[in-house]
Amino acid sequence: MRFNTTNITMLSLGGVIGVIGLALLFTFERLPVQSVQTNFRGTGAATVLNPRTQALLTAANQPPEAPEPADATGERAREIYENVPVLGHLSVEQFGRIMNVMTTWLYPGEGENLGCNGCHVPGNFAAEDMYQKHVARRMIQMTMALNSEWTAHTQNAGVTCWTCHRGNAVPLNVWSEMPVAQGANFLTRPGEQNRPAPLAGYASLPTDAMTSMLWGDNEIRVAGTNQHPRPESRTSIQQTEWTFSLMIHMSSSLGVNCSFCHNSRNWADWEQSPPQRLNAWYGIRMVRDINNTYIESLRDRFPPHRLGPLGDTLKTNCTTCHQGQNRPVNGALMIQDYPELLPAPGTALPPRLGPAADQRAEVAGPRAN
Ligand code: HEC
Ligand code: HEC
Ligand code: HEC
Ligand code: HEC
Repeated sequence: MRFNTTNITMLSLGGVIGVIGLALLFTFERLPVQSVQTNFRGTGAATVLNPRTQALLTAANQPPEAPEPADATGERAREIYENVPVLGHLSVEQFGRIMNVMTTWLYPGEGENLGCNGCHVPGNFAAEDMYQKHVARRMIQMTMALNSEWTAHTQNAGVTCWTCHRGNAVPLNVWSEMPVAQGANFLTRPGEQNRPAPLAGYASLPTDAMTSMLWGDNEIRVAGTNQHPRPESRTSIQQTEWTFSLMIHMSSSLGVNCSFCHNSRNWADWEQSPPQRLNAWYGIRMVRDINNTYIESLRDRFPPHRLGPLGDTLKTNCTTCHQGQNRPVNGALMIQDYPELLPAPGTALPPRLGPAADQRAEVAGPRAN
């Protein structure tokens, strides 16, 4: 072949077409895909699901089999153990069962800091030296709250440690506050914007909507409720950007698109939204409660390597439980096999902490538009 200009042009053209073809091959999902109606009839709102990805998700989210139920009668744990303020009401057999199963949920295997030694000083179960034991105690109270105070979100499925931990000491999907680079140019301001981040769906949106909306309680709105600026209607551009960033996080956590919770002809209107949006509304308040009451309140207990770069704890978002599914853990009824993780009748769980704790959940209810 002689290298004249035509040949070179043809060759480069072929190369370009090849590269585009290869890119297209990996951009789109292989057909067929399924479309599932997720909103009122006539709204045309549907969620597109790929049966092959769904099969992988189902396999990855299989919960472990529950051990035999324990006898709930007989001697109480508090009668024979020393330091059991949270689980002392259980029967000794139930107490042993939940210790065993928590071990497989968080510290499976044997070795240093594995098995019972994940939370206990070897040979002294009553000792209070390990931070893990204190965290576990608070997490047990949290799990009890998620299965009693937050059933508006967790429904009858409920949650166990497995819903978040899945065999790991620290759940795989956690977040913490990210530093903002000083003096960076306007294109790249880490922690803020214009930096491709999965949390914001790789869009030019703030990468940290979590701090303001899942730890703090900034209002999640894009439009003011009247034409007057502050104080009646204080929706800012930043708030709008945070809102969209959070919405993208919620959609991708649940593996759904926006119409799973909204009718796109009017995003804000509750009347036109399917019931899942209400469930999500409670979910947002629940996550704030998890992060403030149960995790951040233990900040001083955690060793530095369990904290984020700015010294705050590793916190929860929608992905921590949902992991790509609209019903976590394949919709399994998680709590039904673990009565040990329900609060004892008449016991008080820790009071809610965090900004405007009194405005949370059932107290307020979503605001009408
Ligand atoms: C995820 C952390 C964790 C793991 C793993 C764990 N425990 Fe515990 N354990 C606790 C907590 C928290 C308490 C205190 C419960 C309370 O406050 O009511 C406790 C208390 C105990 C007590 C009571 C001691 C006393 O006298 O006060 C015994 C006994 C015990 N655990 C045994 C075990 C055994 C055996 C294993 C391994 C099979 C195990 N634990 C694994 C967190 C854990
Ligand atoms: C809503 C999600 C969620 C649930 C449910 C949950 N945890 Fe956690 N847990 C977390 C997060 C997030 C962290 C990481 C905190 C950090 O490191 O700053 C954590 C950390 C811990 C740690 C410290 C691990 C280490 O080695 O540093 C222990 C122990 C623990 N959890 C025990 C439990 C137990 C026991 C249960 C069930 C009774 C439970 N958790 C349920 C989210 C959860
Ligand atoms: C899992 C349910 C869910 C999904 C998916 C979801 N949203 Fe939302 N959205 C909500 C809830 C709940 C609120 C109200 C939050 C609040 O008031 O605390 C909301 C609020 C909003 C608002 C603010 C409306 C106002 O009052 O100003 C906009 C805009 C919005 N969503 C757009 C989107 C977009 C765009 C997507 C897709 C990228 C999306 N949402 C995906 C549940 C969802
Ligand atoms: C502690 C674990 C946990 C966290 C964190 C969590 N959820 Fe959920 N979510 C659940 C459980 C459990 C259910 C009920 C599943 C069932 O009924 O099978 C649920 C159900 C839902 C549903 C109803 C799904 C349907 O098909 O009807 C929506 C919507 C939802 N969650 C949104 C969210 C959003 C948005 C967030 C983050 C702001 C969030 N969840 C955080 C555990 C969690």
